[in-house]
Amino acid sequence: MWKKIFGGGSSNSERTEKAPAGANPLYDRINWQRLPRHVAVIMDGNGRWAQGKGLIRTAGHKAGVKTLKDVLKTAIDLRIEALTVYAFSTENWKRPRPEVEFLMKLFSEYLLKELEEMNDYNVRIRFIGRMEGMPEGLQRQMREAEALMKDNTGIRFNVAANYGGQDELIRAAQSLARQAAEGKIAPEDIDAEAIEQELDTAGDPPVDLVIRTSGDQRLSNFLLWQSAYAEFYFTDVNWPDFTPACFVDAMVDFAGRDRRFGGLTNK
Ligand code: IPE
Ligand code: IPE
Ligand code: MG
Repeated sequence: MWKKIFGGGSSNSERTEKAPAGANPLYDRINWQRLPRHVAVIMDGNGRWAQGKGLIRTAGHKAGVKTLKDVLKTAIDLRIEALTVYAFSTENWKRPRPEVEFLMKLFSEYLLKELEEMNDYNVRIRFIGRMEGMPEGLQRQMREAEALMKDNTGIRFNVAANYGGQDELIRAAQSLARQAAEGKIAPEDIDAEAIEQELDTAGDPPVDLVIRTSGDQRLSNFLLWQSAYAEFYFTDVNWPDFTPACFVDAMVDFAGRDRRFGGLTNK
């Protein structure tokens, strides 16, 4: 599965319109002309997955790490340009301290373990959210990972940690207000492009598809600006059970959507 079917991570400009010969049969159902450029995933249901098996919630988080690895690899195979995953929200601090601490430790382990392989696959990792709110050691690891992969040209992999869509917009507004107060920009210069440039996802295409696992149908403060015209795909499958085949199901569903963007046709 995690084979370099397409010769490893590559930029979207090299994206083929068809699956190359010898590709994984899992991808037979893919419509290569109608794949999303930017997929966002709300990885939900780890706790419910664990509870359903009589395990403690944190066992679900651990199992979810493997799913994330498989989904990232699938997205690379499909030459998705950007993948943004929701790992920890600004609201998740409300959880019991041991669970929060477990998650922070898991992120740190994940980075240590997966860094080199991600780099080999030409992944460009970026952490979105209020990084300074994370434990210091983890912040250092995050910055190092970003620095290591900053020039990679493959998938843009955004990990949302201590992220909230409203918080991101507040930070953007404050930065623009500061620039206006300093006379660097005029209030009229603040347009959609100026706001986008201030967001943590600056430079990425808009989100085409938001996937949320585990049955709830809400955004939970994820990518509020970026998802303005996204399609939504909800599945009852809990995140640890979300396989590459489930990801392909979402791609097939997306290919059948009629995206009109306010017009009358999708052209
Ligand atoms: C998602 O799974 C992971 C994080 C929010 C960190 P949950 O932990 O929210 O699992 P459920 O929704 O309680 O089942
Ligand atoms: C959203 O899931 C955040 C992440 C997946 C990291 P939550 O489980 O925190 O969302 P709510 O509480 O159900 O809205
Ligand atoms: Mg949840």
